[in-house]
Amino acid sequence: MAKRPRIAVVGSANIDLTTFTESFPKPGETIFGQKFDLGFGGKGANQAVAARLCGAEVVMVARVGRDLFGPATIENFKKLGIDATHVKQVDGLSSGVAPIFVEPSGQNRIFVVKGANEALKPADVDAASEALRSADCIVLQFEIPLDTVYYAIGFARKHGIRCILNPAPGQPVKMAALAGLDYFVPNESEAETITGLPVGDIAQAKQCAKRLLAGGIHRVIITLGANGCLLATNDAAEHLPAFPVNSIDSTGAGDAFIGSFAVFLAEGMPERDALQRANLYAALSTTGVGTQKSFCDRIRFEAAWAAQSQVRYASTPH
Ligand code: RIB
Repeated sequence: MAKRPRIAVVGSANIDLTTFTESFPKPGETIFGQKFDLGFGGKGANQAVAARLCGAEVVMVARVGRDLFGPATIENFKKLGIDATHVKQVDGLSSGVAPIFVEPSGQNRIFVVKGANEALKPADVDAASEALRSADCIVLQFEIPLDTVYYAIGFARKHGIRCILNPAPGQPVKMAALAGLDYFVPNESEAETITGLPVGDIAQAKQCAKRLLAGGIHRVIITLGANGCLLATNDAAEHLPAFPVNSIDSTGAGDAFIGSFAVFLAEGMPERDALQRANLYAALSTTGVGTQKSFCDRIRFEAAWAAQSQVRYASTPH
């Protein structure tokens, strides 16, 4: 029986305001959207929820506003069994929010107003140090100040804790601060922003990963949406294809991938298996609307995994 991992997320919590639309208004124009959804989101919170639903003990370190959304966000963590001791309300800033627009194809466009997420400082990492030190893995993203991210990477390195960084949303980084990182997991556009190299196909993704590895990161995983992901180390690069599903909303799929991957890895699965499973967990999340509410629990995931494995086995020539 796999051990129950402990995952710590130092990151953002937002409220997602999702509009489903067939087109976008021109300047000065008002048009009708088709549907609206309000939900708990934020890349950090989403990854924490995915990890929790996959069976981990999860501790969240975050900041929310003293507004309608702040207490609701804290309550949501608690309801899901996530340790929210280090999720605090701050004065003078709104909670983070994300107006999201989803096209009929399931493709999304996201604005993030960071609000209280900007108030998460390196000192808050120290304040949560006891909880963080007991984690198997610390998971980070880029919706909090980058100095806090760099500090948390240093904390993980100092205490020998595995660290996964999802550099989302993509922005210029201090590569030296990322040296020694265990996993760097951008999507195509984040990888392009950070390296300045195009990631239009697998060959380009490999070149881009090479550039990132040269900076001292141990392992790079570039997520490729419906094309799965690329795992690259200094020794090799491998493309792992996605599982085909009927996608209706891809928002949060990257978060589902990272939260589940952290758990599968911490359970002791071989890296490649953990990645295949994370590919499926992410794909399943795109079959539902919203972010956290589209993530499945471990029981549903295992059933889907067993079904997919049968399909793959049946289609493999003997
Ligand atoms: O990755 C999806 C998330 O990005 C949304 O939940 C939104 O809040 C933004 O952070």
